[in-house]
Amino acid sequence: MLQGSELVSISCILNHSLSVSFETVVCKISLTKVGRFPKCPFLLDGFYPPMSFPKRTDFQTDSAFVEALLSEIETLGRDWHYDEAVTQLEHAVQAAMLARDAGEPDHVVAAAALHDVGHFLMYGKARHDSPDGDDLKHEVVGANWLRKSFRDEVSEPVRLHVPAKRYLCATRPGYWEGLSEGSKISLKKQGGPMTETECSRFEELSGYQEAIKLREFDDQAKIVGLAIDSIHSFNIAVLNGLRAATPA
Ligand SMILES: [Fe+2]
Ligand SMILES: [Fe+2]
Repeated sequence: MLQGSELVSISCILNHSLSVSFETVVCKISLTKVGRFPKCPFLLDGFYPPMSFPKRTDFQTDSAFVEALLSEIETLGRDWHYDEAVTQLEHAVQAAMLARDAGEPDHVVAAAALHDVGHFLMYGKARHDSPDGDDLKHEVVGANWLRKSFRDEVSEPVRLHVPAKRYLCATRPGYWEGLSEGSKISLKKQGGPMTETECSRFEELSGYQEAIKLREFDDQAKIVGLAIDSIHSFNIAVLNGLRAATPA
């Protein structure tokens, strides 16, 4: 039988997770029930256990994994404004639309759709983060997670999309002026414009040019009120970004 505080916790979770998959809710309930996490106040703060984020190995097919991954971004990102006027979902889809409309190959479109997946992986903390708060290194968190399932052509531009901003601020006249206010503020905690030495090192990295391209899509993907496609229209591009499955 559930006790008072447990019932409160569960009601908070259900409230918060109405559109999250049944499995996710069950996972949260059972984790709370066994006392692995603090109860209601923490959960009310948007707690979202990373272990319930879709993992490729939890799915029988890659299509089901991609479907679940994009659904998760859709569910969590729909009402979540990070440091911009658009939602996280609008931002991800707009970036992917820009990459697709520019005729980029699937791995760039996939990288654009998933470039901020690190924020989603740190949802509990990141949704209340401000541009001038701690640098959570979402690009590193996201790339390390992607690398387990996706090809380097997807994960590495994601890893470099913040350094690419620092690089462009140092090398492209007028770039900083065109950044959104949120990006200008976060630039400070990300290290500011690169030094000359950092720029030279950055140019030696394989895939740095794709990272710059991704950065440009990222910067433009902040149009308020733009009608967006379904994130599921990028299923195939994301699917094609996966590593070959390890033979069983
Ligand atoms: Fe980002
Ligand atoms: Fe972004």
